[in-house]
Amino acid sequence: ETIEWDAEDAGKSGYDHYMLKEIHEQPTAVRQCLHERVTELERRIDVEALEMLSVPTQVQFVACGTSYHAALYGVRLLRDRGVPATAFLASEYDAGSTPVGDETLVVGVTQSGETADTMGALRGANSAGATTIAVTNVVGSSAARECDHVMYVRAGPEIGVAATKTFVSQQIALVLLASELTGEYDDDLAAALRDLPGQLQTVLDDSSAREIATEYRGADAYFFIGRGYNAPVSLEGALKMKEITYKHAEGFAAGELKHGPLALVTDRTPVFALVTGGSNPTKTIGNVKEVETRGAPIVAVTDGSADAGRHADHVLEIPATHPAIAPVLGNVQLQLVSYWVANELGRSIDKPRNLAKSVTVE
Ligand code: G6P
Repeated sequence: ETIEWDAEDAGKSGYDHYMLKEIHEQPTAVRQCLHERVTELERRIDVEALEMLSVPTQVQFVACGTSYHAALYGVRLLRDRGVPATAFLASEYDAGSTPVGDETLVVGVTQSGETADTMGALRGANSAGATTIAVTNVVGSSAARECDHVMYVRAGPEIGVAATKTFVSQQIALVLLASELTGEYDDDLAAALRDLPGQLQTVLDDSSAREIATEYRGADAYFFIGRGYNAPVSLEGALKMKEITYKHAEGFAAGELKHGPLALVTDRTPVFALVTGGSNPTKTIGNVKEVETRGAPIVAVTDGSADAGRHADHVLEIPATHPAIAPVLGNVQLQLVSYWVANELGRSIDKPRNLAKSVTVE
């Protein structure tokens, strides 16, 4: 008897989809991103690509899609360290009307390094005299060549159209970038980064995302809320859900819920709330109570802060960590929920309809 196999299946290493394989590769992706950049004993971050950079007066991020969500996370990391920072959707960036100068650092976050909108924004920034850096996964990509500096996120090749491990690697690269640029790197963050690959593995091993996905696969829509460091991940959770399940999903900064989206909440719209230490967990629980009274099923993605489990129908647990690192773990739970909903619905997970891995037209 012979066993049929093809190169594609071999590439999936036993997983049904590249996306699931890539989700499971995230502990390794993070290890690779950190490799030889964090000196544990000296509690020092040393990223070769960043050595030449001085503290900029302002940072502007340009990015699209999932990479834009990483950029929003980068904004918060920099602002927390006293550096004014803004994230622009690359397609909306206009270097001509956005003040830049040689004290401005423009960071292009792009997995592929080929996205046309991001390339356009980076070219504009370069001609306006900004210092530019590409944060990318692809060695020698157009973004890597266009920019003054390049920092590789080192996620390894990503085949699934929906970005997963490259997003986690972008998040970690931006933690390193923000820390190195400002020299602000404390023992707690060092410990959190050291523990992160193991904690990601714990989330992957113990997640109950599959059961939750089965229960709510028929939902009308999915909402994601979070504050502070968790706000970008609520957007990313919704984008992942849209991309691979074709279902309506939206993410909000939790405080915005009552300014409109609450009108959409019913008992057929599960709400995923990211509730973690350091990102205003008590206020987020306040928002959870608002949807609770409308009968929405609530799934708390939480480290146990503000006793979130008490207000939720289900809990997706994440281990305790540094406030800035919690959303990295929370995001993995949301990736798994989307994956399993899409799987239940029989979607084309690795190649969703109408979408491309890299968009080279404006
Ligand atoms: C496409 C992909 C997304 C990705 C976006 C930006 O739309 O489908 O997954 O986030 O492009 O890609 P980039 O390579 O610039 O990160």
